[in-house]
Amino acid sequence: MIQTIAILNGGGDCPGLNGVIRGVVRAAVLQRNWRVLGIEDGFDGLVDRPRYRDLDLACVQGILPRGGTILGTSNRGNPFRYPVKVDGKVCLQDVSERVLNNFRQLGAQALIAVGGDGTLKIARRLNDMGMPVVGVPKTIDNDLRGTDVTFGYNTAVSIVTEALDRLQTTAESHHRVMVLEVMGRDAGWIALESGIAGSADVILIPEIPFDLEKVCRHIVRRRSAGNRATIVVVAEGAFPVGGHKVVQATAEETFGLERLGGIGHYVADAFERVHGLETRVVVLGHVQRGGSPTHFDRILASRFGVKAVDLIDRGQFGEMVVLKGREVVAMPIEDAVCTQNRVDPKGNLVWTAEQLGIMMGR
Ligand code: F6P
Repeated sequence: MIQTIAILNGGGDCPGLNGVIRGVVRAAVLQRNWRVLGIEDGFDGLVDRPRYRDLDLACVQGILPRGGTILGTSNRGNPFRYPVKVDGKVCLQDVSERVLNNFRQLGAQALIAVGGDGTLKIARRLNDMGMPVVGVPKTIDNDLRGTDVTFGYNTAVSIVTEALDRLQTTAESHHRVMVLEVMGRDAGWIALESGIAGSADVILIPEIPFDLEKVCRHIVRRRSAGNRATIVVVAEGAFPVGGHKVVQATAEETFGLERLGGIGHYVADAFERVHGLETRVVVLGHVQRGGSPTHFDRILASRFGVKAVDLIDRGQFGEMVVLKGREVVAMPIEDAVCTQNRVDPKGNLVWTAEQLGIMMGR
């Protein structure tokens, strides 16, 4: 018999997180009279004395348009590899039993874990250990296999598209090459879709290692044909044929995920130094994750939150909500997190881009 549920979000923040929280609270309180506890800062909030607060209707009022998450989050809080200082040195410990016990102390009968593949993998393992968990997929990168799309992605693509529209005019005025580096980790979705929407001339994605010589020749040819500016969108995880991703910090250094970034400057350097093309680089960074979600993401987040409560009501633990076509349905977390959703180099989107004359680095 469910009386109390808890919710946490793990990993990076993402536009729409507050919409999920609001959807969960409204469906739980209004329709079922359940109590909802919001755990702070992801699984970190369960490692020591639980940090949580009661989420009533008033707490979620007005949060649908707000970016970020009212609960706070952390992308270092993996309870199975938790960084702990021992004798001044940081080592990784398994604190999952502690997390399980702390969760039990809350008196909640189920947990909704909102996160990307890292958080969902943790949720699945905790579910196997006896914590009844339901998952909600989240990431601006859109790299989760189980769902057609994740909330946050649409907002990120809109932000990048707007940035591209702005870069077009300044690039044309100065006859420059403008390189825009965007997020996405090992998936090129943000670069590809925003590049098409923002009329980019070159799009470089991790799924298609690029030939730098060919890219340079393409830009030089455009120049000769009278094009005053060239817009290059490069995904942070893109890399040249035979080369590597540009990494700012390794997974060991961050005690979490490797931090990508720098490929924009790498390609710009080649454009300027080797080919004398005046180039500027813009790294959009966390602007892509900040601010208000689009209407699409508000609706998807609300649907995911409401459906997650329904899964708990039905006892479908170990499962997560996903969008399939026009329906929000459930699937085992295990099936959703086994592989990544990446751009198909032979797929329709890449084909469309190339038919439009966009150079994809090959
Ligand atoms: O996964 C979302 C994401 O924004 C990636 O696109 C990016 O590589 C990463 O998170 C940045 O993480 P952080 O906020 O830790 O710098």
